Amino acid sequence: MSERVRVGAEAELPEGSQTEVRVDGVGVVVVRYEGTFYALRNNCTHKDYPLLGGEVSLGRLTCEKHGAKFELATGKAKTLPAVKPVRIYKTVVEEGEVYVLPL
Ligand code: FES
Repeated sequence: MSERVRVGAEAELPEGSQTEVRVDGVGVVVVRYEGTFYALRNNCTHKDYPLLGGEVSLGRLTCEKHGAKFELATGKAKTLPAVKPVRIYKTVVEEGEVYVLPL
């Protein structure tokens, strides 16, 4: 069983923030979008470029390398050149702290 990983205090992770944590040795990007925390593997499924820092709009995170967009809630690739979904993780907010754990 994997332990959950603390991302930080909810109050210190404002709307639009992006934070990278490691879950079982894998980089995961945590995005706050419209008040909800989403967590996706920090590797584009096109050419493995990090997703951290990509633009977020309409519930999608854009890979800065070639512009593929991934749906935050499902990890699905919504635009080319990516076709495979990116792995998503579960987020939990408990007593003002945000955590990530494998789904
Ligand atoms: S590496 Fe992300 S779109 Fe190509």
